[in-house]
Amino acid sequence: MKILIATAEAVPFAKTGGLADVTGALPLVLAERGSTSGKGHDVRLVLPQYAMTKNWLANNPQFSVQKIIGMDVPVKGILIKGIIEELKYENITVYLIKNDDYFLRDELYSTQSGDYDDNAERFIFFSRAVLEMLKLKDWSPDVIHLNDWQAATIPLFLKTVYKDDPFYSSISTILTIHNLGYQGVFPSSELNLFSGINPEEIFTMDKLEFYGKINLLKAGIVYADIVNTVSPKYAQEIQLPECGYGLDGVLKQRSHELYGIINGIDYDIWNPATDKEIMHHYSLQCPENKRLNKLNLIDNFHLGTKGATSISLLDDIPLIGLVGRLASQKGLDILAEIFEPLLFMDVRLILLGSGEEKYHSLLQKIAKKYRGKISVNFGYNEELAHRIYASSDMFLMPSHYEPCGLGQLISLRYGTIPIVRETGGLADTIEEFDPLSGKGNGFTFTEYSGKALLQTIKRACYIYQHKTDWKRCVANGMNQDYSWASSAMEYVKLYRRAVRQRQGKGD
Ligand code: ADP
Ligand code: GLC
Repeated sequence: MKILIATAEAVPFAKTGGLADVTGALPLVLAERGSTSGKGHDVRLVLPQYAMTKNWLANNPQFSVQKIIGMDVPVKGILIKGIIEELKYENITVYLIKNDDYFLRDELYSTQSGDYDDNAERFIFFSRAVLEMLKLKDWSPDVIHLNDWQAATIPLFLKTVYKDDPFYSSISTILTIHNLGYQGVFPSSELNLFSGINPEEIFTMDKLEFYGKINLLKAGIVYADIVNTVSPKYAQEIQLPECGYGLDGVLKQRSHELYGIINGIDYDIWNPATDKEIMHHYSLQCPENKRLNKLNLIDNFHLGTKGATSISLLDDIPLIGLVGRLASQKGLDILAEIFEPLLFMDVRLILLGSGEEKYHSLLQKIAKKYRGKISVNFGYNEELAHRIYASSDMFLMPSHYEPCGLGQLISLRYGTIPIVRETGGLADTIEEFDPLSGKGNGFTFTEYSGKALLQTIKRACYIYQHKTDWKRCVANGMNQDYSWASSAMEYVKLYRRAVRQRQGKGD
């Protein structure tokens, strides 16, 4: 099959979160062994070229740009210049859409002072450029797999401005929703960005209109042949008013074409036996070295000073890690409620993240007050993230909602026990450990409250002191397989379904 993956970010070219991990890993697996015959698919990836991407290319000359083509992209009634840069990365072809006015910026979508105010224009340009590019390359994929609101207008263009062009007629589309909390909602005045489309035709309740504004994710939900999200549980949750962010009605209408496929993680990048970012390698068979990583981290981050030496900390006092966006989605507000009682316990905490200003200032205060018990690290730091996954005993994800979550999957692989709220993908992947049956891979709670979170951490700490049970729980997690192999096959099935649907053959 010919598959194009269109995304606003993908590892290693640009990343702000889990979306990039997914769109970076999935194409490689599809290209390698996607088809049932064992032969890989023809998979290509397209994303904008940001400053971050340029830096990566400069530092990785082995992946140099091989072809450059100029193009004119119709946006807001005029033609805007763009450039397609083409390169081979591992086993796939990558197209970078270049327009320095739009994309050569420090950040991808926003700065500390808020979202870039031309985000609608930037990503409508990108989506339209993707379709123009296909014709220039004379490559017509069977399916375009688009991700999140930034690429969600591609099916809208296909089914309006390009609908009578035979070149595009057999292309089917799948929209993956990675996070319904981000929809790309803009003032209706931005309708003029859709060159060649009569605004009245699409500014209706059953199309892009959303409480008087336009909603780009809604465009994808309405026009894509198939819609999916990143866990079965989240696919159910988003059809309810509590989690639907205003789109539950539209999603419900499409419920028979709404699927949930759990994400995998890249087992080459996330492997404690080979991870370049960690000092001491370990595995399920030889887990001993995990302790050395912990020792190293608590020494480096001065977490051994208060009330215990580094050595006694090793096995007696659990180290709890958190890596992620500091946003309310991630449960930071309930964590904030319990910092005092939590840090009163015999635990150590290490946090890495960046995000909302209110959490930055709160965490700064806590870090000052509890020096030696908590280490707070702001910013994006790939190396430290790996070290935290490898060194911690437990990993916190008390998310308010979580479409899939990768942190808990990475933690399982690193023998680090997830403490999670039962929502979305967290509920689908983490099961409470039961010392009697020896089953389970983590600790979970349902009620979104500091109290429930604290009780769960206490349960985990109790089991932590019972080493045989703890080792069992760790082994259960490390034994699981959340590599991309099976989820990639699920995507292939969905691609085939989309193709059949496009050809009018139904299931
Ligand atoms: P989301 O995509 O909602 O942010 P996920 O759990 O799906 O959450 O994925 C987050 C990914 O980003 C993980 O790979 C995590 O390790 C990484 N990550 C998040 N914040 C940071 C950070 N500050 N530094 C390094 N990696 C981070
Ligand atoms: C989103 C979600 C996260 C998911 C990731 C990749 O950012 O918040 O739960 O794992 O996308 O699909």
